Amino acid sequence: MKPGNTHEKLRSPDGQALREAADAITAGKLVAFATETVYGLGADATNPEAVARVFAAKARPKIDPLIVHVTSIEQARDLTTAWPALAEQLAQAFWPGPLTMVLPKADVVPSIVTGGLDHVGLRMPSHPLARKLIAAAGRPIAAPSANRFGRISPTRVEHVIAELGDQDDLVMVLDGGPCEHGVESTVVRLDTSAEGGSEGGEPLIHVLRLGGLPVEALEQFGKVNVIRVSEAETSQRSLASPGMITRHYAPGTPLSVVADAPGLMQALPTNASERVGVLCLNRQACGEGLAADIFVRELSSSGDLIEAAANLFEAMRAMDSMSLDRIFAVSVPATGLGLAINDRLQRASQR
Ligand code: TXA
Ligand code: MG
Repeated sequence: MKPGNTHEKLRSPDGQALREAADAITAGKLVAFATETVYGLGADATNPEAVARVFAAKARPKIDPLIVHVTSIEQARDLTTAWPALAEQLAQAFWPGPLTMVLPKADVVPSIVTGGLDHVGLRMPSHPLARKLIAAAGRPIAAPSANRFGRISPTRVEHVIAELGDQDDLVMVLDGGPCEHGVESTVVRLDTSAEGGSEGGEPLIHVLRLGGLPVEALEQFGKVNVIRVSEAETSQRSLASPGMITRHYAPGTPLSVVADAPGLMQALPTNASERVGVLCLNRQACGEGLAADIFVRELSSSGDLIEAAANLFEAMRAMDSMSLDRIFAVSVPATGLGLAINDRLQRASQR
């Protein structure tokens, strides 16, 4: 058994544990729980003091808003002052699941949740554990990923224990197994000004963060505008998620991203004393002729991007614990979940 799995805060999500967890949430404490994307660090979204404890436990800047998790569309609608037809369509199509919609916040949402913004991110998770916890608590749950700020998001319960197990306000970590998607939700902001407009224009969906719902899935509902991190720092800053403009998902070991196998060959150090690891989709993506002593971690030997996303953060953590001098990550095909994987690799490489 891994050491983290014996931790006193760790619980299997049986009825008793869920009741205790719900009581802890309503009492203003923090509970970490599995979702289908990554593990979340949950607090009562309607209690500003509880939410403040989330920021403190993660050492997260107060300007970075939290996503509020719900179990029904009605509960979501109570948290926003606008529910455009496009929101209903996306909710019907993709909830419960890895989609967060940023909408004008209602007064019941304390401003600490939104980092002072007038919009709130809403998501209905599909993981049964998350759903049971929100239902048992009887209120929406604000939950960022259950890692220290800027670090790799947790996709296994032992990652949560390693990141936050020592935090006094975190009273319980509910084990829901490894996360299905392995990357966080796709965050969108809807521009409904065009919706039903006199020009009959297509609605605009701004993707603030690439994630578990592939961009292609959104295209049938409107024009999709993916905000790039570099743009977020400049021209489109007002649209950006505050969480986009900081270095994220960072392993302690320096990580460089290379485009492809030839790029990898060029980048690899000639100095044999350096301990180097390569993170790649699969062996084929590394090309021929890698030196035998280079550690290679495949994300999916069959080249499946869904499997690769689910393994990404676990692989980054595992490589980070190997005392390597450098990690080289080979970009994956930029389609489907590959976009989210490449986004996380890029951010992990920023120093
Ligand atoms: O899959 C997920 O989204 C996970 C699970 C736990 O649900 N949660 C998660 O939360 O990844 P967090 O806090 O690590 O990342 C949420 C991102 C932040 O970078 C934040 O900037 C953006 O979503 N966000 C949240 N609310 C927003 C808002 N009102 N406006 C703009 N961006 C928002
Ligand atoms: Mg996070």
